[in-house]
Amino acid sequence: MAIVRESIHGQWSSRWVFILAATGSAVGLGNIWRFPYITGENGGGAFVLIYFVCVIAVGLPIMIGETVIGRRGRQSPVNSLKAIAADEGLSSNWQLLGWLGVLAGFLILSFYSVVAGWSVAYIFSVGAGTFTDATSQVSADEFKALTDSAPRLLWWHSLFMFMTVFVVARGVQGGLEQAVRWLMPALFLLLFGMVGYTMNVGDFNAALSYLFRADFSQVTADTILLALGQAFFSLSLGMGSIIVYGSYLPANTSIPRTIGLVALCDTGVAVLAGLAIFPLVFGFGLEPGSGPGLVFVTLTVAFGQMPGGQLVGALFFVLLAVAGWTSAISILEPIVAWLVEALRWSRHKASVIAGGAIWVLGVGSVLSFNEWADFQPFGKNFFDWSEFLSTSVMLPTGGLLVAVFVGWRMSRASTLTELGLSDGVIYGAWRFLVRFVAPLGVFVVFLNALGLV
Ligand code: PHE
Repeated sequence: MAIVRESIHGQWSSRWVFILAATGSAVGLGNIWRFPYITGENGGGAFVLIYFVCVIAVGLPIMIGETVIGRRGRQSPVNSLKAIAADEGLSSNWQLLGWLGVLAGFLILSFYSVVAGWSVAYIFSVGAGTFTDATSQVSADEFKALTDSAPRLLWWHSLFMFMTVFVVARGVQGGLEQAVRWLMPALFLLLFGMVGYTMNVGDFNAALSYLFRADFSQVTADTILLALGQAFFSLSLGMGSIIVYGSYLPANTSIPRTIGLVALCDTGVAVLAGLAIFPLVFGFGLEPGSGPGLVFVTLTVAFGQMPGGQLVGALFFVLLAVAGWTSAISILEPIVAWLVEALRWSRHKASVIAGGAIWVLGVGSVLSFNEWADFQPFGKNFFDWSEFLSTSVMLPTGGLLVAVFVGWRMSRASTLTELGLSDGVIYGAWRFLVRFVAPLGVFVVFLNALGLV
């Protein structure tokens, strides 16, 4: 049965804007900072291949499911779930899944903003020539000097949160849409420019064979779980970002085709980020498996040595910051949409108050690198706990419940109508993945994160 509701927050002007916005949400620090370094730590090609499988078999079906929920409910995740549950005669407790997303959003954005803040800081320090001819030691010291300083981290975190609130406060068409219309083309331009440049300056062949030659001897169960978790985070699943973006999607747009394109772009950007980074890492004899410091500590050494590295390096961090910015917007949006609906606050007020609360939480993450470094209940500092609870516990739980909701609880007729498909092979494949493969996959990742498998 077709259900026609209208969002009080507005609607994307076209299918293309949705594609830009959803790609902007998906493409973030997860693609450009995290994907390359975990690929580096897990031996390259085999990891990349497993990652592709996880995106197709688990990520994509759930992403389609989230968009279905959003467009059918046409409200914030909490209220969309409530409305659909009522339509389908299900328990109103399903709205708790929306609540989980709100909570996850608070936590994720609080630490995400701190890391994105590093990228903004690096635009200036790389641009100022700090890394010119720097050795690995100098580069590592530079990174440590930044994270050791609470005031510096606080400043960059505050600036990044301000940028995020600024966009969200202006609304769907006036803020989010304007931002992605400018930022996403800029992001693609910078990324292609970077790859073109590193093809010539770095060791492109070494990077190609590193990313695409699969050596399965290093693959363990952990590798698979890591790939699945990464697919999840990278596609922005499990916390309502895609639900809320789906709620602004024009009614006649085909969800499977549109989301397929978004997932393809997200994966493409992760690979391109690898192709921008690894040629430099190999070309300058650096270490690919250097972990979270890969772009901040290792890559900056390469920038310091190559012709034009000061400018190209600064642009690389512009790219990272822009990618983080469009993702951060999508993390704040579900919370703000819900506050506007539930408390009848103006969007402006909701953005400032939610952003302010997240900023306060982020101060805890800032301090975990310096003043509170020794405060580590159960072996994790505040930053690590925020990251662990949100990305390893809340996102998989959210994703699992989304799969159960659309796969098992919503009627077949409702999902068929919303997807605009006939009851054929494509629908059958989606339904099979979302009912069986995705929940099982996510469940196993979850147990692994809790240390149970
Ligand atoms: N997908 C974003 C990234 O790759 C992060 C994100 C997670 C955004 C969850 C929204 C929701 O950086």
